[in-house]
Amino acid sequence: MKKATLCLMALLALLPLRAQYVPSPDNLQARQEFESFRFGIFFHWGIYSEFAQGEWYLNSGGLTHDEYQKAASCFYPIRFDANQWVEAIKDSGARYITFTSRHHDGFSMWHTLQSPYNIVDATPFKRDVIAELSQACRQQGVRLHLYYSQLDWMRPDYPLGRTGHHTRNTLAPDYDSYYTFMQNQLRELLCNYDNVEGIWFDGYWDHDSDATPFDWRMEQLYDYIHTLKPRCLIGNNHHITPIPGEDFQMFERDFPGEKTSGFNPDQTISQLPLEMCETMNGMWGYKVSDQNYKSSRELITMLVRAASKGSNLLLNIGPQPNGELPAVALERLKDIGVWMRQHGESVYGTTRGEEYPWGVTTRKGHTLYLHVLQDTVPVTLPAQKKPHSVSTSFNYDKRTKTLIITNAQKYDIIKVDL
Ligand code: GLC
Repeated sequence: MKKATLCLMALLALLPLRAQYVPSPDNLQARQEFESFRFGIFFHWGIYSEFAQGEWYLNSGGLTHDEYQKAASCFYPIRFDANQWVEAIKDSGARYITFTSRHHDGFSMWHTLQSPYNIVDATPFKRDVIAELSQACRQQGVRLHLYYSQLDWMRPDYPLGRTGHHTRNTLAPDYDSYYTFMQNQLRELLCNYDNVEGIWFDGYWDHDSDATPFDWRMEQLYDYIHTLKPRCLIGNNHHITPIPGEDFQMFERDFPGEKTSGFNPDQTISQLPLEMCETMNGMWGYKVSDQNYKSSRELITMLVRAASKGSNLLLNIGPQPNGELPAVALERLKDIGVWMRQHGESVYGTTRGEEYPWGVTTRKGHTLYLHVLQDTVPVTLPAQKKPHSVSTSFNYDKRTKTLIITNAQKYDIIKVDL
């Protein structure tokens, strides 16, 4: 049967709308796999990369939509090679990528039929990079998720929120029309690229200060997606408590529960799989002057701390306008890969641990991994009884029920079988 026919059948099954979201068995399995990955790579790449000022440049640079879209006519990333990207990702130990299919500037990075403002119809490059990434991911066994912006600084039918007020020359707000556009685009993404396993929504917060609450119809949209593809994992960077229909909860630049980013003072942690996202340097989209990369050690520590909070780390790279990944980002990926090959078992498939003055733990059944992150000695751990084994020499104090390790060094990983 043709893909289009299959999609149509799935659509017909949409009526009537389900009252309450019940994830399918497939979806629950996908959640479990996703949780076990612990490490993914985020890509922010679009025509904004050409300005080399980050992905908000249309808005923050004070540009108008006419000036900005000229960038499409010279988007020709001659060094783009999806296989090389995915190889570098796989080598780093990351198990999935999340790629910006369409950011707030409204430019689609695939051959959408819903608007000519896309990488195939509006650029001399004329290649569908999502098709290429999808194929490379399939071949190399890396999962593919797609970022999708709900807000759009280009389309006249998107009802303005709190951003993008100077970017358009015509305004004809019509959420029905915009909603249909989003629905059609999402259908294309899910039906044309069969290995898209997750949708990462962003932009909901654009309407968080409206006098009358804005109805995005998220539950309806989620239902549409799950009907097309029950196993698809949906997350939304809305900074609020998860909305029914979401399959994972995300935290922007914030370890779950720490609330240091200021985005989410009231956000609670749900039972859903968790994912925190962070940048390697300071920006999401490529910014030429931003060379302030975190060290490999800092990034590994971030990954370990995220895992100890029961969360995946989605680490961002802003690819260059020529299609290459920045050399520093590639170095970081290599270093993380070396560490993952040696110590991956202490993060993959682990569950939430605890935080101690000397570092953090992750857990896998009866095994604890002690990640020493400070110089503080000794490393002590409450333990009801003497552990079966510990990967280094230790003492067990029966009276205080404490495991004591005196010879631990910063960045050691100690395996304890309870
Ligand atoms: C914010 C920004 C956006 C970026 C995202 C990643 O929502 O608006 O540019 O894509 O965070 O977390």
